[in-house]
Amino acid sequence: MTEGRSCPLAYRYSPASLCEEPRQISEDVLYIIGGLYGNPWALDEIEQMAMAEERRGHRVKLVFNGDFNWFNASDSLFRSINNRVLDHTVSLGNVDFELANPSPGAGCGCAYPDFVDQGVVERSNLIMERLQGLAEEHPDIQKRLSLLPKHRCLMFGGLKILVVHGDLESLAGWGLSYESFRAGNDHKLSEWFLASGADVIASTHTCLPVLWSGLVDGHSRVVVNNGSAGMGNLNSDPRGLIARIGLSSPVAEPAAGIERHGLHVSLLPVTYSLAAWLPEFDRLWPAGSAASLSYRNRILRGTSLNPEDVVFPSVV
Ligand SMILES: [Fe+2]
Repeated sequence: MTEGRSCPLAYRYSPASLCEEPRQISEDVLYIIGGLYGNPWALDEIEQMAMAEERRGHRVKLVFNGDFNWFNASDSLFRSINNRVLDHTVSLGNVDFELANPSPGAGCGCAYPDFVDQGVVERSNLIMERLQGLAEEHPDIQKRLSLLPKHRCLMFGGLKILVVHGDLESLAGWGLSYESFRAGNDHKLSEWFLASGADVIASTHTCLPVLWSGLVDGHSRVVVNNGSAGMGNLNSDPRGLIARIGLSSPVAEPAAGIERHGLHVSLLPVTYSLAAWLPEFDRLWPAGSAASLSYRNRILRGTSLNPEDVVFPSVV
C-alpha cells in the first residue's frame, strides 16, 4: 500500500448493504456536515444556522459524515471538537477512522488519485501523523470514534437518504468527487442507486462540492457532496458548505439548490468568522507546516469554482 494513495481493506463495503435498514427521522431538516476539519468556528456557525431554522419552526438534525478532525491539533481543541460532534448523529471519515484505528502504511487514508500532487499527499500523511500522536493521549475519544459506523441510511420524508463519506464502495472512494462528475460517472451512479435503493446520496471526502440530479430506473435521484464545512469551496469565497435536506426551502440563500419529490436539497454556506479561526489555525500550523502549505490559501480564498460549476448536469 502506498501511503495516502490507496486505502485499507477495512474501508471497503458493498453498495447493496448500505441501505438495508434505514433509520426513521422525525425532524424536518437534515444538515449533513462533512469535512469540518476541526474548525470550531464553523461548528459554532452551523449551530447558529440550526437555531435560526428552529426559530422558524423547523426541527433540525445535525448529521456529521466524517473528517470532523484535521486541523484541531491541540489537546483542548481535539477534545472539544470531538465531544461536541459526538453529541450528534455521526459516521466516520478516513481521518477519524485512522485516529481510532491507525492502519499501518495507510498514511492519511485519503486514497488520493493520480491527479493529486505528490506534495499534497505527503503533507496529508504528515498532518495525520501529528494528529495520531495527539489522539493516542485521548483513549476515551479514540474508543468513541472506534464505535462509529462508516455510513448511515436515513428514512426522511418517505425517501431513503444514504449518507457516506467517500462513495458506495469505499470510505475513501472518489467516485462521487467533483472530478468524477466532470469526467462522467452516469453508469456507475446508476449501478450504485440501483444496488442501494437510495433516493438521495450525501457524500463529502473529496473536498469540492457537487449537486447532481437525474433519473435512474424512472425515478428522480439526487447526489449532494458538500465539499467542506470548515473551509472555503467556491471562488474567492472562504465560507464552508453543508448539505441541507429539508421538507421546506432553506431560511438562508443557498449556493445551489434543487427540489425533488417535495424535498429541497441545497448547498448551504457556513459564514463562520475567518478573523477568529485564521489566527488559531496559524498558531497550530505555522508558516511552512504541512497544513499551512496545503490549506492556508484555500482557507483564505476558497477555490476557482463558481456555484454554477458544481451543479450537474449543467443547465445551459
Ligand atoms: Fe476524507
